[in-house]
Amino acid sequence: MSPLPPREATVDRLEVHLVGDDVLVPCVDGTQRPYLSLDAAASTSALPVVAARVQEFLPWYSSVHRGAGWKSQRATADYEQARQAISAFAGRDGRDDVTIICRNTTEAINHLAYRLRLRPDDVVVTTVVEHHANLLPWARLSQRRYVECSADGTFGVDDVAAALDGGPRPALLAITGASNVTGWVPPADEIIAAAHHRGIPVLVDGAQLAAHRPLPADADYLAFSGHKMYAPFGAGVLIGPRATFSDGDPFLAGGGAVDLVDLDEVVWTDPPEREEAGSPNVLGAVALHAAIDELTRIGWAAIGVHDDDMARRLRGGLERIDGVRLLGVSAQPGSLPVASFVIDGVSHALVAARLSAEHAIGVRHGCFCAHPYLLRLLGLTSPEVADYHAAVLR
Ligand SMILES: Cc1ncc(COP(=O)(O)O)c(C=O)c1O
Repeated sequence: MSPLPPREATVDRLEVHLVGDDVLVPCVDGTQRPYLSLDAAASTSALPVVAARVQEFLPWYSSVHRGAGWKSQRATADYEQARQAISAFAGRDGRDDVTIICRNTTEAINHLAYRLRLRPDDVVVTTVVEHHANLLPWARLSQRRYVECSADGTFGVDDVAAALDGGPRPALLAITGASNVTGWVPPADEIIAAAHHRGIPVLVDGAQLAAHRPLPADADYLAFSGHKMYAPFGAGVLIGPRATFSDGDPFLAGGGAVDLVDLDEVVWTDPPEREEAGSPNVLGAVALHAAIDELTRIGWAAIGVHDDDMARRLRGGLERIDGVRLLGVSAQPGSLPVASFVIDGVSHALVAARLSAEHAIGVRHGCFCAHPYLLRLLGLTSPEVADYHAAVLR
């Protein structure tokens, strides 16, 4: 294994500490070591300012959009301010969009899939790179056409255009903003332009992108999760044009979404409340607002430099270890600091277990909720895929 280059080769490092960074965890040799989370693509710990804002808000916690008391008024105001901040963060100021606060990206995409009123023969174009959250909601309701990736796990705008043009006109293009497996960031702006040129609306799954890069301003629909943005308090977001949510019944039916109910009648209220039945997660919204304020304060430029630095060190470091094989893009400029690797001949579960038990390093192993992508990145043959399939069924 060759040594890593010295750290001073890096630029202006961003020193951000997260709640729990100093926590010790037990290792198999009986020592306690500082836990090192290398699992932030799955979930990030809270920023201290997020935890502080939640703590500060807790005494004022009350029902949102329901109570007449002072605390309810204040909680409602904080919730609505969070909605405005989320909308501005997503570049939606001045657009007639609706910002819906939900649980996470998965719920947001299921919500949209329901709201688009897809018919079984409608086609959604999506890609083999997607997280299951951007595959399964479409699989349940519509036909799919997929953009394939090459061996390095990427595709180009032309590949997307070919899939858009390759059969019945699609109702939607649903595409990731960044891969949770390789950190690859597809050229979203060009892809969106190609879809719009054909009159096709676009959903960008911003789960990985939202904490790292500005969300694509021209996407028609956006989905992202607070728990991947240093605000792990259970709030996620769906944003889309008001027209999508103005008519018809919402994804969730219940209190808060209505103007009038009789036993055989319902008059739905206007969005966004129409789309947020049940008591809203005001703590999650306040936390996400705080995270957005902090990301904005730090600024995309500093975050980008820090990400590039980490991505270089992460991939460079892994590549230098004998026997470690990186999956997918290795030197794609602008990729997020996310990497997946295999150690030939060693089970992924064992690698992850040893990193945890011996070194207090938390990683994720397996297929990262992106089975189709992993099969391609691993370059498995059809018989190998069939064996894997049979093993899972057994
Ligand atoms: C690219 C991508 N999309 C969607 C999701 C689903 O996010 P959530 O679990 O917050 O619903 C994830 C989670 O890892 C992801 O990485």
